[in-house]
Amino acid sequence: MTESITITDNRSGESYEIPVVNGGVSATDWAKILPGIWFYDPGFMSTAAAESSITYLDGTAGILRYRGYPIEQLAESSTYLEVAYLLLNGELPTESQFEQWRHDVTSHTFIHENVRKRFLDGFHYDAHPMGMLVSAVAALSTFYFDAKDIFDPASRQKQIIRLIAKMPTLAAAAHRFSVGMPFVYPDNSLDFPSNFLSMMWKVAEPRYETDPALSRALDILFILHADHEQNCSTTAMRVVGSSHADPYSACAAACAALYGPRHGGANEAVIRMLSEIGSMENVPAFISEVKAGHGHMRLQGFGHRVYKNYDPRAQIIKKAADDVFEVTGRNPLLDVALKLEEIALSDEYFTSRRLYPNVDFYSGLIYQAMGFPLEMFPVLFAIARTAGWLAHWQEMLDQDSKIARPRQLYTGADARDYVPMSRRGA
Ligand code: CMC
Repeated sequence: MTESITITDNRSGESYEIPVVNGGVSATDWAKILPGIWFYDPGFMSTAAAESSITYLDGTAGILRYRGYPIEQLAESSTYLEVAYLLLNGELPTESQFEQWRHDVTSHTFIHENVRKRFLDGFHYDAHPMGMLVSAVAALSTFYFDAKDIFDPASRQKQIIRLIAKMPTLAAAAHRFSVGMPFVYPDNSLDFPSNFLSMMWKVAEPRYETDPALSRALDILFILHADHEQNCSTTAMRVVGSSHADPYSACAAACAALYGPRHGGANEAVIRMLSEIGSMENVPAFISEVKAGHGHMRLQGFGHRVYKNYDPRAQIIKKAADDVFEVTGRNPLLDVALKLEEIALSDEYFTSRRLYPNVDFYSGLIYQAMGFPLEMFPVLFAIARTAGWLAHWQEMLDQDSKIARPRQLYTGADARDYVPMSRRGA
């Protein structure tokens, strides 16, 4: 039996039956019945803007799956490159498919010399690396004119490979510039995370040797951040992509959305908060302050719009942190974080509001222990999320989607006549 909802228009007394499909009702069906009456939903709190088969998320149960595969299994056994393939293609690759994918991505890691020498070098000496990344990704569209052929499968695949491959190169280049270090070319004999670490940290040694534990931890963090269904930056990608802009321009918009502290900048806020608390003894007083602030002061890295349970990614990250600290030494802020979590999870204020640690509570501690400056945290997020952005962009184009163009509820002035400046009051 098909599920449905019946609504009655009290103005006319007429009733209408609307089917429930995949857990949703079609707003277009409602609009046909109720012309001129719009759904008011700022922040899309109750609106499903797309049908998607990429990521499944159940925030109450704390479940996250990419293409059906539990995030825990992917973090344990897969690599970022394999996960990127999975997100983009729907299935895990065979050995030969993966070899081709790895080869394609690896052979596109270099960026045009002009991107670095003429474009990136033009930034002010203290430019924020995320600002540089947003602009550099947009600038790539001016280097690849074939990017506009978004309905040509070969061209589309080429831009996807280029973006996945060049993102770490652009990210590392932005960092090197912002600290006044010379650019390091990609080393295509290294795997995806090790090559990025080499471009970040190489100084004068002929070949940068990464500690495998650090490279693996970074790869796990990339896997955990690769997609998160219709989040703010992915929505930006879909909205700009719906105008049929090229993927570099759409991806730059997604990066810009990620730049904000409510989205990609939260792990930086966690480190600032932990540093401000300073030591474990200060934790109870800090928690009391947060509670007394009634929402004005927040425990950074706690709470989530969708997760009302422990964010499954936070649990995986906690384990990865141990592996990293074994190499780098324990981040002194970890004890403060653990104490904060312990107290918050036994406090009625947080439990009654279902506020648990989210992915950002521990990721910053790992990045900091690995030597990444705070400004690079959103940049690292962007490298990983590129796979998700592109998977959603591709899915949206294949769905023959409409251009994103919401309605509004107008609350401004009624029609009135223009008044010359000389006749306007003070
Ligand atoms: N610390 C203290 N109180 C909180 C917190 C927090 N971190 N988060 C929510 N609350 C309280 C809030 O004051 C409200 O209380 P009351 O009902 O008494 O007014 C209640 O919990 C519900 O909060 P909300 O603002 O309605 O929840 P939301 O779903 O709109 O916000 C959030 C979600 C992530 C913006 C919010 O939890 C927050 O600001 N957290 C801290 C920042 C953070 O860690 N962000 C990273 C999110 S994960 C990364 C990503 O996906 O991009």
